[in-house]
Amino acid sequence: MQFGHFDDEAREYVITTPHTPYPWINYLGSQEFFGLISHTGGGYSFYRDAKMRRLTRYRYNNTPVDSGGRIFSINDGGDVWSPGYFPYKKDLDFFETRHGMGYSRITGARGGLKVSTLFFVPVDINAEIHQVTVSNESDAAKSVTLFSFVEFCLWNAEDDQTNYQRNLNIGEVEVVEGNIYHKTEYRERRDHFAVYGVNAPIAGFDTDRDTFLGHQNGFGEAEVPAAGKSANSVASGWYPIGSHSLDVTLEPGESKTYTFTLGYLENPKDQKWESKGIVNKAPALELLEKFDTNEKTDAQFATLRSYWDHLLGSYTVSSSDEKLDRMVNIWNQYQSMVTYNMSRSASYFETGIGRGMGFRDSNQDLLGFVHLVPERAKERIIDIASTQFEDGSAYHQYQPLTKRGNNAVGSGFNDDPMWLVLGTAAYIKETGDYSILDVPTPFDNDESTALPLMEHLKRSFDHVTNNLGPHGLPLIGRADWNDCLNLNCFSDTPGESFQTTENQAGGVAESVFIAGMFAAIGPDYVELARRRGDEAEANRAQQAIDEMKQAVLDHGWDGAWFRRAYDFYGNPIGSDENDEGKIWIEPQGYCIMGGIGLDDGKAVQALDSVRERLNTPHGIVLLNPPFTEYKIELGEVSTYPEGYKENAGIFCHNNPWIIIAETMVGRNENAWEYYKQIAPAYREEQSEVHQLEPYVYAQMIAGKDASRHGQAKNSWLTGTASWNFVTVSQYLLGVRADYDGLVVDPCIGAEIAQFTVKRQIRGAEYVINVTNSGGKGATLTVDGVAIDGDTVPYAPAGSTVVVDAVV
Ligand code: GLC
Ligand code: GLC
Repeated sequence: MQFGHFDDEAREYVITTPHTPYPWINYLGSQEFFGLISHTGGGYSFYRDAKMRRLTRYRYNNTPVDSGGRIFSINDGGDVWSPGYFPYKKDLDFFETRHGMGYSRITGARGGLKVSTLFFVPVDINAEIHQVTVSNESDAAKSVTLFSFVEFCLWNAEDDQTNYQRNLNIGEVEVVEGNIYHKTEYRERRDHFAVYGVNAPIAGFDTDRDTFLGHQNGFGEAEVPAAGKSANSVASGWYPIGSHSLDVTLEPGESKTYTFTLGYLENPKDQKWESKGIVNKAPALELLEKFDTNEKTDAQFATLRSYWDHLLGSYTVSSSDEKLDRMVNIWNQYQSMVTYNMSRSASYFETGIGRGMGFRDSNQDLLGFVHLVPERAKERIIDIASTQFEDGSAYHQYQPLTKRGNNAVGSGFNDDPMWLVLGTAAYIKETGDYSILDVPTPFDNDESTALPLMEHLKRSFDHVTNNLGPHGLPLIGRADWNDCLNLNCFSDTPGESFQTTENQAGGVAESVFIAGMFAAIGPDYVELARRRGDEAEANRAQQAIDEMKQAVLDHGWDGAWFRRAYDFYGNPIGSDENDEGKIWIEPQGYCIMGGIGLDDGKAVQALDSVRERLNTPHGIVLLNPPFTEYKIELGEVSTYPEGYKENAGIFCHNNPWIIIAETMVGRNENAWEYYKQIAPAYREEQSEVHQLEPYVYAQMIAGKDASRHGQAKNSWLTGTASWNFVTVSQYLLGVRADYDGLVVDPCIGAEIAQFTVKRQIRGAEYVINVTNSGGKGATLTVDGVAIDGDTVPYAPAGSTVVVDAVV
């Protein structure tokens, strides 16, 4: 069952009913100002940091789950309704939400009136635009009143939902010439305020929530829209809001368009005031002027569209499979951008107050983003590396506003360091900019300790070899990629965090996964050392990698698959010896990506075990059998009910590692099948099972041991986005940036018999025409001349290179 359809031409997903199984959302903004918007207009907006600078309020855990947000209300002769359906829930004659690249358009019609609102955040402007078009589709003249509504958050989103004894006293606004200014705490230390304005004369306004709704009412019973007239209320403490009313008179067939602007503004400290207590509104007026005609708004929207045309031009495919094309060309890249911007901060599953930017998360996120805006990836790499400690370990997270490591979460996740090598290598392969390795980069943000970035990579690499356990495998620390495999935690206190609780000392818990990562990512460090002329360092590092591979073969192989880890006491985890959690997905993927078992049949055997024990029609589960009780020596992984999250859920992030591994052993059909199992466009027809957006990946799909097998949770902000883009673009379609050229090595199901990839990189364009028989290894012709090997050398900027590949 579907709740809409794709419109690939427009790069939109079109939702045709308000009654989706869950709010299906989109993101507005890709630089500093962001909004989350559901298909009915719910969600919130913030400037840079979803915790510290939240403009509008959102209530998680609410009923209905998606109340509030941006509400446009119509009073048409006493009939009060909203084109977004909520909160009045009046039947609509037409409903449609189009989620596009950085914008959403919500259209509803009732009683001969159609109201269509375009929501977007313009390029380089810190504001969210609501462009409302009201059309009279009846054959009589109409006079209606249109009400806008947003509810202000008192900036710090966490404090906003905890500190009522203070907060209910501090709300302050100003209303001048129809523009509503939210200035809570501006009288003291804040230099920022918000404005909500409209480019037309208003009939009235409200800024006090209780007046607008009525003290005992929910949103759907709001008094002001029902009365058809604003009360011109001025908030004083309590709950400040922004609402305008406009009288709209329309002849039959006539339309009128209004632009509402919700903006974030800052003033220099010495220019805060116009007069005592009155905000200096100059920056707000400058902003509103940019949207004072609908033509100006249209032009800003056109700029946003071409911004995305440009971004998405750097990798496109054209094949006979429209689902593949729409994932690659549109939605997977779009989600990678959003994930890069948000890390794990703000979604309908992440509150925007809890987590900073993850060290491992951000490094992986940039894998799917680096080809879009490489300069930003470079900045991010330096930001991340600047939080690293001198011994190579890393804060697990850092705060985006301060760019400092987050002490509350601390460090000790022993996979973190190596991801920096992977992220940096991806940047260099994309750009050829080796100078990043020379950028002076501090440790723990202390500028006096700055050393070239290359030294950070060395510390990352050495952190693994400096922390080996009794089997010569890396010690796991708090956890590795799997945050829930907490082998040193031994927590017995309810509610205690597995991520931060003091670990027990003296254990020897080791991770086969980190060993696999080291084998897979280490060679990039070797290569970079070599390219810097440091042959001795390259050899030293290569030897460490070889030893690690041997340690995996000696102690990480269980007989039919790779083991997962050794526990605190040195007992194997992910072994046939265990009753539960016999086999885990992560080491099967990463050890093979590290080349382990490719030449002796172990890789194929491990992948066969994955297929037999972990695969389902909804994706590959994380482990099997699931844990049926809490195991104190394993930690959080055993806290989840069977089939959810790390306890045998389909954790989509690591399915791609298996897909890549399958391409490495040349089993294209398996790889292709696994890809399609979790790719959202291929799951669209089962939306009633999947439940979440069919245009973006979710972190998890309930596994085979869950009663709701196939149901997704935690959409949008997941490393799944970038890893799937890497997988489909670089391994299935097989076009990947390397140091000296573009590798063309397609490994995709025979079903895709012919396709063309267009790749822009380092200023040149490559048009790669592939004829595919489903095997592995392509014969390449570059501009008509046959070449040896799989690498098309980089051409000078400005050139177009035509590659023919026959698989
Ligand atoms: C979450 C975290 C990620 C972790 C994964 C597995 O997605 O963001 O860092 O690797 O869970 O536990
Ligand atoms: C929980 C989740 C895991 C996430 C971690 C960090 O452990 O299961 O996926 O990475 O929290 O917030």
